[in-house]
Amino acid sequence: MSVPVIAIDGPAGSGKSTVARGVAQTLGWSFLDTGAMYRAVACEALFKGLEIHDEVAVATLADQSEITTLPRVTINGRDVEDEIRTPAINEAVSVVAAQPLVRRAMVSRQRAWAASQSEGTVVEGRDITTVVFPDATLKVFLTASIEERARRRGDESASSVARRDEADSNRTNSPLRQAADALFVDTTGRAVDEVVKEIVACLTTHR
Ligand code: CDP
Repeated sequence: MSVPVIAIDGPAGSGKSTVARGVAQTLGWSFLDTGAMYRAVACEALFKGLEIHDEVAVATLADQSEITTLPRVTINGRDVEDEIRTPAINEAVSVVAAQPLVRRAMVSRQRAWAASQSEGTVVEGRDITTVVFPDATLKVFLTASIEERARRRGDESASSVARRDEADSNRTNSPLRQAADALFVDTTGRAVDEVVKEIVACLTTHR
């Protein structure tokens, strides 16, 4: 691995994106939201009228598409920043993310992206500590109570959050799991700054 990587996994609403962004900002590192990549692929599949259960068609699309996550989420030049958070995409992303060929395409992009960074990078998702960067400098598993997670995801119903949790934890391919050597952080009732400080402090003992 060419640059240090902090890998963060956790369920919906656990605070991954906010905390990962804060850690990256504190360290002056880059940040990658891999959920946004899967969401962008789901958007494009629907936009192109693909049958989203057609794994080969969706994986081919994933392989051939240009995706950016910052400053805006785009796919093939189309801005999908707002569309990725709609109920239709909350549904479709679970289908797309369960497909092994789609995951293979995303994982290789995520590794290539990290390898191209000049400083360190903070990467967050569902399989980052277990599959994408099992040798990351620091691995973190974030969680929070189901009530607090549903509350934080104000843009998504509690039943949709619960359905995605179930789908992400029980799928055959790369289910959400806590890596044995990951730092476990329960963010329930805790301020973002405090969690960011805990992770940054932990990094110094892991380098
Ligand atoms: O923001 P939130 O935690 O609600 O979800 P997200 O990070 O945007 O991810 C959306 C969906 O993409 C998840 O429910 C997973 O099904 C999938 N995903 C994945 O399978 N692997 C990743 N590394 C990241 C996201």
